[in-house]
Amino acid sequence: MTLLSILEFPDPRLRTRATPVDPARIADPAFQALLDDMLHTMYEAPGIGLAASQVDVHQRFMVIDISEEKDQPQVFINPEITLADGHQVYQEGCLSVPGIFADVTRANQITVKAIGRNGQPFELSTDGLLAICIQHEMDHLEGKLFVDYLSPLKRDMVRKKLEKARRSSAA
Ligand code: NI
Repeated sequence: MTLLSILEFPDPRLRTRATPVDPARIADPAFQALLDDMLHTMYEAPGIGLAASQVDVHQRFMVIDISEEKDQPQVFINPEITLADGHQVYQEGCLSVPGIFADVTRANQITVKAIGRNGQPFELSTDGLLAICIQHEMDHLEGKLFVDYLSPLKRDMVRKKLEKARRSSAA
């Protein structure tokens, strides 16, 4: 498996709106291998979710595993939220915005329709952390980052902090 490199804010490629996956492609060994590479990259980071946009693949799919044991990978291809209700606030982070955490308000209860890695469509109703994670990863497919929910001033502070961290790690 290959460790993929993850784009970091404010890389403009993270702003690309992803296009749908052709379901006929899901069974392709190359596509399946990409899913494995994305899961591997997410586990190594470590993170609980990774959208294709973050590894510079601008198609609508993402991988998630919120389990304690990291043994319950979930793949969502062409995901669509068909129902969203209530709200919850959670301190989110993102592999594309390393070291930054901030409160974000999202729907509490969602129903999502997607295609699994076996090519089968499924529907999932969930809440809590999984609902947050699905909404966060789906934002990536729209070119949106969790820092977009912050005030412009705060977002600029995040950008400066990341630039400073990068400079000192390059030095
Ligand atoms: Ni993210």
